[in-house]
Amino acid sequence: QVHPVVIAGGSGTRLWPVSRDTMPKQFVSLLDSGRSTFEETILRVSGQGFARPVVVTHSDFRFVVAEQLAGLGVEADIVLEPERRDSAAAIAVGALIAAGRDEDAVCLVLAADHLIPDGDLFTADCQEAAAAAAGFQRIMLLGIEPTGPSTAYGYIAPGAPLGDSGAFTVERFAEKPNRETAETYVAEGYRWNSGNFVFPARLMQEELSTYAPEVLNAARGALEAAVRDLDFLRLDADAFARAPRISIDYAVMEKTRRAGVLKTRFRWSDIGSWDAMFDVKDKDAAGNVLEGAVSVLDTHGSFVRSDEVLTTVVGLDDVVVVTTPDAVLVTSRERAGEVKSLVAKLHAEK
Ligand code: GDD
Ligand code: MG
Repeated sequence: QVHPVVIAGGSGTRLWPVSRDTMPKQFVSLLDSGRSTFEETILRVSGQGFARPVVVTHSDFRFVVAEQLAGLGVEADIVLEPERRDSAAAIAVGALIAAGRDEDAVCLVLAADHLIPDGDLFTADCQEAAAAAAGFQRIMLLGIEPTGPSTAYGYIAPGAPLGDSGAFTVERFAEKPNRETAETYVAEGYRWNSGNFVFPARLMQEELSTYAPEVLNAARGALEAAVRDLDFLRLDADAFARAPRISIDYAVMEKTRRAGVLKTRFRWSDIGSWDAMFDVKDKDAAGNVLEGAVSVLDTHGSFVRSDEVLTTVVGLDDVVVVTTPDAVLVTSRERAGEVKSLVAKLHAEK
């Protein structure tokens, strides 16, 4: 049995104004299914072969997490972070909990904000990665075939085959390279890191204790002094605050020599921006994605979405217009990634 650890504490500012500090993108219904990516993530790992999921999230999101789990009829351990310390600390907590259930536990860490249309292929790949993780004592990555030199991802250079498991060793892991470097990586056959990790819980603890001991110690302390609150497990604030703010990619994956990679077959998108959302959605005859109370004239290749307020566009191409009851975003598709800077500016002005 694989122990799923869903990390759902990120902020997702590039999908503002639908994704908010109080309700980040992983909990918002952005998909045609009407479900959130968090719900889809939980559903992918609540079938056969998976233990009770652990959800690690910020305390602010406890009720939305509990509600969405209840809506699916899935029971999980919900662990609450008093503050955001990035993914290394959240994953350390997950690994410690899994190891507490079973010393030989194999964890599957899942990002809560990804779109994976081929759920069955994904779970099959995860089970294959889990077998390789246990058999070869590796932290397994799911390597996606790149579609371009994105600077938003980790890059993986596959090395030698790991036996006849279908997996490979990792020659190099490079988190978010610059454009030029990313271009050479794509040309050299590197893979994108999907942001899901499969590993023996004990091995992750060993690698954390070698490369990021403060993260592991803070996570351990925060768990030891954690308190039960209703159905939630609240991590101790003082102990957790000692965890350096660092992602698992920089903290462990760039340094470890125990990584492995499976070349994946499933379609994948980390719906990281409105443009990325646009890419994965079905278009109408004019190449538009129109959602909600919207109407357009002589407009092409555009993403127009409104929850409530009638939103109209005339004579524009390749734009994003997103309306919510209290905010409107207008940008070109090309520059939609810069919404992150916009949100930072809004915060500074507050
Ligand atoms: N619980 C918790 N607490 N979860 C967190 C925190 C935190 O403080 N910070 C981030 N997460 C969760 C997010 O909700 C998301 O599911 C996942 O960790 C990854 O965080 P992101 O902030 O979205 O990372 P990224 O997209 O920049 O980069 C990662 O994902 C890429 C693929 O989407 C890296 O792993 C890259 O290497 C990878 O290519
Ligand atoms: Mg992400």
